[in-house]
Amino acid sequence: MQPAFVPGKKIALRAYNERTDFHKYYEWINDKSVTEYMDDMYPVTYEYAKKYMRSLASPDLDNVVFIIEANKEAVGITGLYDINDVHRRARTRTMIGEKEKFSRGYGTESKILLLSYAFYMINLHHITSIVQEQNIASIKSLEKVGYVREGLLRENSFYKGHWVNDIVFGITEPDFHPVWEKYNESLKK
Ligand SMILES: CC(C)(COP(=O)(O)OP(=O)(O)OC[C@H]1O[C@@H](n2cnc3c(N)ncnc32)[C@H](O)[C@@H]1OP(=O)(O)O)[C@@H](O)C(=O)NCCC(=O)NCCS
Repeated sequence: MQPAFVPGKKIALRAYNERTDFHKYYEWINDKSVTEYMDDMYPVTYEYAKKYMRSLASPDLDNVVFIIEANKEAVGITGLYDINDVHRRARTRTMIGEKEKFSRGYGTESKILLLSYAFYMINLHHITSIVQEQNIASIKSLEKVGYVREGLLRENSFYKGHWVNDIVFGITEPDFHPVWEKYNESLKK
């Protein structure tokens, strides 16, 4: 599936382009302060990262990969993965890769834009995001955009020598609707 351009207030989502974006992604994925709570292996080789991104971003697959852009600069990456057309569902992950750009609202706004694309452009119904329970920024931003806790995966991740729980968050199109209306109202101010 080919992603569209999704414009927002502080940020926009645009299609990932291997030629111009891969070197940034490679820096981000090898920055432990960025990937601390993520599943990704660390560090990863250039070849591994390239193969991984090619597998994700292939237009033949049921994934949509977006670069998060602020002031025309790539600051992170997000996407919908394992899109299922029968059950109209997908999984999502988001990473602000430039750590000096954390806590500016970019993560939250990128989730709003991604969900608007998922629900109103490609007609999905349910989106899932799994997060380690100590990833407070991620949990807050998921809850701000309407995700609810749907499950707990006990001791599902290994973090600094300990087993930690993962929380399964989910959102349906009706859950998101008021968030989207509020966001659109904020654009008029
Ligand atoms: C998680 C992430 C997407 C959040 O995006 P962000 O742009 O940094 O966060 P936002 O500015 O949108 O803030 C979201 C909320 O988290 C809070 N927050 C941000 N950083 C925080 C931190 N380090 N600790 C606690 N709360 C934090 C913000 O205050 C805000 O809550 P509030 O509105 O109640 O004040 C981003 O930090 C990131 O990509 N981190 C690295 C990769 C990662 O962990 N991805 C998620 C994998 S599931």
